[in-house]
Amino acid sequence: MVKLEYREFGKTGLKISKVGFGCWQAGMSAWGHDYTRRDAGDAIIAAHENGINFFDTAEAYGSGISEKILGESLKGRDAIIATKLAGYNSSVVEKSIERSFRNLGRTIDLYQVHWVPSIYTNLGRLFRAIEKSVKAGKVQHIGVSNFPLKYLEKAQNFMEKEEIVSDQVQYSIVHREAETELLQYCRKNRIEMIAWSPLARGELTGKYFNSRMPFTLSRSLNSFTSGHSLSQPLKEYLQEQSASLGVPIPALAIRYIISKGILPIPGAKNPLQARQNSEAMDAHIPEGIFGRIDSLSMQYATGSPKLLIPRAIPNTLLRIVMSRSI
Ligand SMILES: NC(=O)c1ccc[n+]([C@@H]2O[C@H](COP(=O)([O-])OP(=O)(O)OC[C@H]3O[C@@H](n4cnc5c(N)ncnc54)[C@H](OP(=O)(O)O)[C@@H]3O)[C@@H](O)[C@H]2O)c1
Repeated sequence: MVKLEYREFGKTGLKISKVGFGCWQAGMSAWGHDYTRRDAGDAIIAAHENGINFFDTAEAYGSGISEKILGESLKGRDAIIATKLAGYNSSVVEKSIERSFRNLGRTIDLYQVHWVPSIYTNLGRLFRAIEKSVKAGKVQHIGVSNFPLKYLEKAQNFMEKEEIVSDQVQYSIVHREAETELLQYCRKNRIEMIAWSPLARGELTGKYFNSRMPFTLSRSLNSFTSGHSLSQPLKEYLQEQSASLGVPIPALAIRYIISKGILPIPGAKNPLQARQNSEAMDAHIPEGIFGRIDSLSMQYATGSPKLLIPRAIPNTLLRIVMSRSI
């Protein structure tokens, strides 16, 4: 059983577990057919029973299915729920919040603007509409996702009263680009950085080391942002440390992120994965290991931050893909 230990979530006053839980898998459609809706719900319950209290979902995950499964699974339980805006048109924001609020059956603790800022029609109007929902008591705190520094600052300037409390970006051992100026800024301003795909969509679990990743819509989308496969020395180091410490590779990958002061939100399809990922909070891992992983993965920290804004993809195409139940 995991020890229950919580930390402050930036300036919000919320107390969160060091590991969160990603609910894209509970959207069902994008992650293949090797699990059921029941597995997805049981994974959420297993995570909660193992000390995780921060759950991330989005209106776009299965067009609301993930929010519904999350809401049903956590009914009557104390937890912090984050969801995200699917639409790119600022005039739909209030309707989206209302729908998420109903799907989840509770107040939204953190409402995040999901996609790269370039696809939204009117950012000023969008943030002001979210602020209204805070006043109305539907949303507690406002965050962004996939916002580079320039837009994070802009978003803050659009706000009349509220503050942007978090930025959710791709971050893992093999995607460290956000570590440059964005992480420094977040640390300085007590803005939480939340790491999506902390296990590089399964690549950092160990099980796909020597084989191709399975094909699912979620993994095909990886081509937007990936192209970073594990180098041989890093692969070997993770395998050796996992064997000698008796700690699974996903736990090493999750704890590496925690060591940077970032919140990992690994996704899980079943209770076994959920338990294993929550046990990472307690695993005994000497600090020196993170320094070694740091130097072995330096090449993934120097990539261009444009990975956070896939400019090469035309906005219209991005909007079509994003609106398709991911
Ligand atoms: N803001 C955004 O734009 C954005 C983008 C992506 C994700 N997210 C959020 O971030 C969360 C996590 O990212 P992600 O789901 O893309 O990727 P991830 O957490 O890096 O990888 C999740 C996948 O890894 C495998 N896995 C997880 N734990 C495992 C374990 N202990 N042992 C073996 N395999 C394990 C499972 O897939 P298999 O069993 O199929 O291998 C699982 O579906 C999402 O659920 C979502 O909430 C946000």
